[in-house]
Amino acid sequence: MTSPILVIGATGKVGSRIVAKLEAQSRPVRGASRRSTPAFDWEDDATWSPALAGAEAVFVAFMPDLAARGAPEAIAKFAEKAIAAGVKQVVLLSGRGEDNALRSEAIIQASGLGYTIVRASWFNQNFSDGVFLPAVLEGFISLPAGNRKEPFIDVDDIADVAVAALTDQRHLGQLYDVTGPRLMTFAEAAAEISAAAGHPVTYAHIALPDFHAALVPEVGAPTADFLRDLCEEVFDGRNESLSNGVQRALGRQPRDFADYCTAMAATGIWKRAA
Ligand SMILES: NC(=O)c1ccc[n+]([C@@H]2O[C@H](COP(=O)([O-])OP(=O)(O)OC[C@H]3O[C@@H](n4cnc5c(N)ncnc54)[C@H](OP(=O)(O)O)[C@@H]3O)[C@@H](O)[C@H]2O)c1
Repeated sequence: MTSPILVIGATGKVGSRIVAKLEAQSRPVRGASRRSTPAFDWEDDATWSPALAGAEAVFVAFMPDLAARGAPEAIAKFAEKAIAAGVKQVVLLSGRGEDNALRSEAIIQASGLGYTIVRASWFNQNFSDGVFLPAVLEGFISLPAGNRKEPFIDVDDIADVAVAALTDQRHLGQLYDVTGPRLMTFAEAAAEISAAAGHPVTYAHIALPDFHAALVPEVGAPTADFLRDLCEEVFDGRNESLSNGVQRALGRQPRDFADYCTAMAATGIWKRAA
């Protein structure tokens, strides 16, 4: 029997789509997360080898984030265990240019494993499957992003690139910087969501210290500190450019934010309770 493709983060936005797409191709898949059997927990390295056993190709979504403190060290240890388990190939989901994400990418690239790096910009689905859904429903998105532009990307495109990389050796050794087709401010994104959702959604800039202070009671100081540092890093202008990773990997254009909004509105996810 062919060895299963291991998908770490299998119940998440990206991983769940990868699992579905691989299953649709009748590929053997093993989904891993803290709730799988065997469980896989980034915070407990004793769980890694049992999940890796028998897999030759692995998709990796690191939690809480590849930009977080300790991520490169965890990825280095993970690469060692993957090699020991007989893994041949890793597809790493990365962020766009954060220091720890770059260090983690470099560790995988130098590990001896076959690799594909999928370096993604801000997910569209953060507004529907993710942390910003409550803000969209309230009609008010507040971030320390000013008028910075983001090339929002659809998670389905990321999953398509990852599936291609997991199933076609031509993607080995590639780094795909994947973005959507348009640079947009958060105010523009909010306006498009608003038009599709049928209720007002506005964006307002919040100063970094105020953003942090508002988060502390909600998520605790360590997570608030991390999110402050992450926002400071990713909203410094480094991501105000488009790239062609989707086109290079798949030979087609990435999905537009407007199509995402139309599709999400049709599901009813942005409908407010009456
Ligand atoms: N959101 C963005 O805009 C963006 C942009 C670029 C890159 N990224 C990267 O995308 C990744 C997140 O992917 P996603 O959005 O698809 O995930 P997600 O929707 O946030 O879901 C998280 C997944 O990871 C699992 N998980 C959570 N904590 C875990 C732990 N300690 N050990 C093992 N598994 C754990 C969850 O399942 P269980 O709860 O069952 O464990 C779930 O499958 C991060 O590495 C982030 O850096 C995100």
